[in-house]
Amino acid sequence: MVYLFMSFIALSLVLFGCGTNTTQSNVKSQPTASSPSPTTFVPESAASPQTSVELAVDRGLNIYDTQCKVCHEINGSGGKGPRLIGKILSASFIQSNMPRNKPNSLSSDQVSDLVVYITSLK
Ligand code: HEC
Repeated sequence: MVYLFMSFIALSLVLFGCGTNTTQSNVKSQPTASSPSPTTFVPESAASPQTSVELAVDRGLNIYDTQCKVCHEINGSGGKGPRLIGKILSASFIQSNMPRNKPNSLSSDQVSDLVVYITSLK
């Protein structure tokens, strides 16, 4: 039974292998017609180089600078509050304890941006 199943997989791999080869040679003739859209799409994405992570880092930095830096120092190097670089962060801890002088004041979006920012610190 197992052998039968394995040989079925082997057979289907062979069939798929051949199938993609033949369709690839068919597809090759198509890009002439559809190439304008890929070439115009690429520069558009290059025009906005910031990824969603980079945007979250930027937002997190802004919140950090105004609400956390006073105790955890620039770049999380530590001051009144502990050093944050390389720490395993708990979003729920931050939400319910930080800023130390104003707990429960951050939205969950702000906390997740802060976690992304602090995690990026080296
Ligand atoms: C008023 C000072 C103060 C401010 C402002 C502050 N913290 Fe803290 N933070 C502390 C202290 C003190 C601790 C040590 C743990 C405790 O006392 O609860 C701490 C602990 C932490 C920890 C846990 C560190 C560890 O060792 O695991 C994290 C993460 C943290 N803070 C993040 C933040 C973030 C993010 C902000 C800004 C939203 C912030 N803190 C603002 C004082 C502060």
